[in-house]
Parts: sequence; C-alpha cells; structure tokens
Amino acid sequence: MDIKKLLNDMTLEEKLGQITQLNAIFFKKDNTADITGPASKLHITEQDALLSGSVLNFIGAKDMKEIQDVAMEKQPHHIPLLFMQDVIHGYRTIYPIPLGMGCTFDEELVEDCARMSAKEAAVSGVHVTFSPMLDLVRDARWGRVMESTGEDPRLNGRLGAAFVRGYQGDDLKGKYDIAACVKHFAAYGAPEAGRDYNAVEMSEHALREYYLPGYKACVDAGVEMLMPSFNTVGGVPSTANKLLLDKILRREWGFDGIVISDYNAYREMVRHGVAEDDKDAAAKAINAGCDMEMMSATTYLYAKELLDEGRITMEQIDTAVLRVLELKDRLGLFDNPYRAADEKEEAALHLCPEHRTLVRRAAEEAAVLLKNDGVLPFSKKLRKVAVIGPFAAEKGIKGFWACAGRDEDCVTVLAGVRALLPDAEVATTPGCSFELGATEVPDLENAVELACEADAVILCLGEYQKMTGEGNSRATLTLSPAQMELARRVIDANKNTAVVLFNGRPLVLTELDKIAPAILTMWQPGTEGGNAAARLLFGDANPCGKLSMTFPWTDGQCPIYYSHMNTGRPVKNPKVITENGYCSRYMDAPVDPLYVFGHGLSYNTYTYDNLTLSADSIRPGEQLEVAVTVKNNGERTGKEIVQLYIRDRVASVARPVKELKDFAKIELEAGESAAVIFTITEEDLKFHTADGSFAAEPGLFEVFVGPSSDEGLKAEFRLEK
Ligand code: BGC
Repeated sequence: MDIKKLLNDMTLEEKLGQITQLNAIFFKKDNTADITGPASKLHITEQDALLSGSVLNFIGAKDMKEIQDVAMEKQPHHIPLLFMQDVIHGYRTIYPIPLGMGCTFDEELVEDCARMSAKEAAVSGVHVTFSPMLDLVRDARWGRVMESTGEDPRLNGRLGAAFVRGYQGDDLKGKYDIAACVKHFAAYGAPEAGRDYNAVEMSEHALREYYLPGYKACVDAGVEMLMPSFNTVGGVPSTANKLLLDKILRREWGFDGIVISDYNAYREMVRHGVAEDDKDAAAKAINAGCDMEMMSATTYLYAKELLDEGRITMEQIDTAVLRVLELKDRLGLFDNPYRAADEKEEAALHLCPEHRTLVRRAAEEAAVLLKNDGVLPFSKKLRKVAVIGPFAAEKGIKGFWACAGRDEDCVTVLAGVRALLPDAEVATTPGCSFELGATEVPDLENAVELACEADAVILCLGEYQKMTGEGNSRATLTLSPAQMELARRVIDANKNTAVVLFNGRPLVLTELDKIAPAILTMWQPGTEGGNAAARLLFGDANPCGKLSMTFPWTDGQCPIYYSHMNTGRPVKNPKVITENGYCSRYMDAPVDPLYVFGHGLSYNTYTYDNLTLSADSIRPGEQLEVAVTVKNNGERTGKEIVQLYIRDRVASVARPVKELKDFAKIELEAGESAAVIFTITEEDLKFHTADGSFAAEPGLFEVFVGPSSDEGLKAEFRLEK
C-alpha cells in the first residue's frame, strides 16, 4: 500500500477521522436509535462518527467483521478500522491481575501469558491492546494498583518489556501478534491521597529517577503506542504536557509511535482549568504531541479553524495520520481487514486446555504465602474440610478489566477443593457478604459449627473484584467488620485454619496476621483461581510468589515502599512503635510495614551463604560479579526468587536505602543448592545526579542478596574514579 499517496488523496475530514477513536456502536448495522445520543454528546453527527479511523469496545470476531464491513463501505477510501481493546490480563482465559503477575518476578511467564492473550484477542478481531500499564504504585489506596506490576522501577520495566514482547511478537509479523500501548504516561500511580484522577505533584528528579523508567523500558522494547495519563503532573495534564510528550518521549527517547489520549481526556482539560473550551483543548493536546483522540471529537470539530488561525499545522495532522495508516499497514489490514478474526478459532482457542493450564500455573506462581505457622500444606488425606467465607464459592475472582472474561468461566475455591479431594466431605457457607462496610455475619453460628466439625478450614476473605480498578480508591484498607468477626470466631473454633485472600491491592492485615495460622493471597487470580488455590493449599504446588508491593501496617502509612530515603532522624527500630523523641516516627504505628516488598514464604526454607564479590572495587566501565549459594533445606522441589539490592552510601543526592537491581528465579530440588551469579555494571549504579546528569558517582556501595528486601547477606565494594 502506498500510504503517502493515500494520505495525499484524503480530504481533511477523512484525515481527522483517522485520528479520532470512537465507540464501535456507531458502526453497528440498523442501530441508529442507540447512537444518536452518544453522537450528540460528542457534538458530531452520526455521519461524522462513521469517518473515525479506529474503535474500542466491541465483542468478538463476528461483531468485528460486521463493524469492519460497515466502516469500509462508508469510508471514502475504504480504509479499514483499527480495533483496540483493554486486554489487560487475558482476553477470555484470564490470568491473575498484573499486580499478581508482578509477584511472579518471572519475565518468561509474563511473556507467555501476554502471548496467549494476544492470540485469543487477535482471533476475536483485536489489533491493539491498551496494555501494559507501567504506573509505579506505592499507595494501596489507589484502586488501579491492581493494573500495575508494583512499586519497583526495575521490576516493572523488565516485566513491562516482557508484556510488549508477548503481545507484539516479532515486529507484528505473526498472525496472532497485536500492537501494545503502554500507559498511563506519566506517574498516574502517584495521585495525591491515593484518589483516582487526582493531581500528581513531584519533582522532575523523582519523575525521571523512579516513575519514568518503566515506560521507557517499554519504549525501548519497541512498543507501538503510548497513552498519556488523565492526571496533571506539575499542574499540566499529561495530555497537554510538553515536558512529558515532546521533550522526554519524542526527543529524548525517540519514540515515533502513536500517542493516543485516554478516554475523553482532551475535553477533561477544560475541567482541569488549562483549556478554555474544547477547541483550545484540541490545540493544546496536538501541540504537546498527541496524535489520536479517544472518545471525543474535538480535533475533528475544530482542527479546520485551528489550522486557519495558525494554531496548529497541517504537518502535525499529516504526521499523526501517517502514523495511524502505517500501523494499519504493518498490521496487514489493507490486505486483510479482518486480519486474524475468526469465529472458529475463537471457539478452539478461548478457554482451551492449554490456556487453562498456563493461567493456572500463573495463578500458582502469583500467589504469595504471607504467613504460615506450619498448618500449610494441608494433608490430602483429610476427611472433612470446611470452605468458609464470602469468597468460598464466589466466581467473581477474575479481577477488574478482564475484557471478554466471564465470572461463569471461573473455578471457585470450593470447586477446586472438591475436584482435588473427591473423597473428602467438603462443607461450605459464605458466612457473610463481601460488601465493603458489612458489619453483620448472618450465618456466623453455622460457620463456627462447620469449623468445629472440620479437620481443616479454608477461610476465603478479601475484596470483590469491583472494589479495585479504575475509580475505586479506598480510604481504609482493612477487611470489613463482618469479615473480621467471621475470621475471629472461625479461627477460634479451629486452629487448623488457613486464610485465602482475594484482593486487588495490598490490604491492612495487622489483626489477621496476629490471629490467623496461615495467610495466602491469591490476588484476583483469574479463570483457574480455585484450582490453583486448592493445589497450593494441599501441597500439589509450592508457593513461590514474592510481594511486588508493600503491605502497610496501617492505612496512614500510605504511600509506603521499601526503597525510601533515610531521614536525618531515623528511628532506632522501625519494626516497633517508637515511644518518644524527635525522630521520624508515628506515635501510634511502627515505621515499617506489615509485609515488605519481596516477602513471600514457601513450604521449603532456603538458606543463603557465601556472598562473594569478584572484586573490592571496580573502575568505570568494569563489571562486578556477585555470587551467592542458595540451598533448599525443605522436602519439596520449589522455586526461590533471589533478589539483589544495592545502596549507594554517599552521593550528590540522597539515594534510597535499598534498590532492586536484579533478581533470579531458580528451581531447586529438596536438599539441592545452587550458585546464583549476578553482574553489576556501571549502568546499574547510575542515577540523576545533583547537576542533572545521569551518571554513576564514585564511592562506597553496599550489596544485599536475599529472599526479600528486608533479609539477606551484605557485602561492599567501591566504584573508583
Ligand atoms: C482508562 C484506560 C483505558 C481506557 C479505554 C480509560 O478510562 O483510564 O486505561 O485504556 O479507558 O478503555
């Protein structure tokens, strides 16, 4: 396809249509009644809407083909539509929420899961997914932490790149490859007070040092598209933020893909108070570097006036349109506008055994064993098991943003346990509801009785999938009074109880940690959640997930993260409440969280020995090898995530007390030990220095290697001048 010629032949309206993304309903056959409303809200006619070049929100291959037919017939040059969708953690077969995937520390697994969902999405007609989400998250009050892989720039960047590889394959050449769109650029994960869409205020230093590297890793991995965030950064909405979109993204990083706004974000700039009206908003977004507008039509409506007034240029419009047409071309849409959409393949691939096996493994590896006094794993010989709690038989465990995933596809914990122990007697009751503020436990006495009669209790608590995700911030992070009452009474009745949590964010579990013999978080585990939970609880699988986000001791600690700065007045012991003194403390809480980043237990114990560095000092350009021996002292095969952190002792700006630089997931048989070798390069030691450069400064560095951000062995080396 001669894209440049096509561009030259197009009218201005057609061009503007190509950079406008609308809901697919406008293209539904015989559906005029339903679209008049949405069109008038956008101040466009239904005919205008039919010129749009890409759509979101459609359902499957059949729908896609019908929409594509209507679109191509109406478009004067018969240009095919680009179909986009939020394929976040699976299309129809759902794997754990990204925060859970962060806890796998497993790039290969993330890539495999992204590949699987690309395949399922491609046969349903998806060309682009609005994923991965690379917002660094350090405040569990924010509902969208579930969409991120966590609080660490390095981990997020490595997993983000794995998502991109999984979706896009080898340059979009494969039949099942789809384009990825990294979002939400930038720092959407740091809204003030954890409230969604709220302003972000941070220094350029913090932005560049901690918040931007994740997005950058995806740009370096060749991500096709990028979405600016809703929020303001330093007072300027990302959609019109020249520092972010023009200076950093386009000029410093050299990104040449499509920048698509978030949903209605152009028009929201009027509410932010930085655009006078829709026309002004379009000018500001285009001049900052946006190419495509999602779910509003300000460019379409006002570009001609803006061009006439000289506020935007034809070159800007042409560049944006060209980017869109080129992506369509690279996806092969001009040759085959349906691309991989195929109802038969949908039937064959969606929820196929191979995909179910993969998502079950992902759910097992994402789960984190937070506490275990030794009750787990339960014996498979148990005769009477009680599965209690609002999530015992709940199918709504796939998580927010599960695209075409359905609750009815999900395996509950109850079903998982029954399938694994066909001969056991398995009793159940929800006890109470999972409503946020529930205080009553209607079936309390029955729940206690079942607990008393059982050999073991699986107590399924947490938050419902719609209690996290977009728009769902929380000011308190505890379980409801009803769930806590149920927990107290059930655990009191039977000490052989394990709590299984379903949660989309770190919760405050301080009381539960005191009373529960074991706590296993499954996050929102997806389609195979119940089977994965059962296998973990009864030892067919060995927990190996490690937290990619800190669990606070109390809500008031948020935001809280392991790689914080030291203060000039640190407390002596951050693990206990410091009674008095002019030090950096809370009067009513310890400084440390309940569960640290990197924490996660196994049914084995692993010991770390012989931390050795290849040298005491290195010169710029040289590498350092860090070796450690890890031994599995348990009786089962298991995986351990070995973590390497550094601390730069003295630098021109204060450096975090620890920073993750590398990790390795190793599998060890019972009694086996292995040497793990990491390489530290000068690149790993670089940071944004006081004079604004990105460089490593000579001096002393500490190295920590261990099973979490809080434990392990320590060594030192110097970087020479
Ligand atoms: C969200 C984006 C999403 C978009 C399209 C917005 O509300 O912020 O993450 O991709 O909707 O569904």
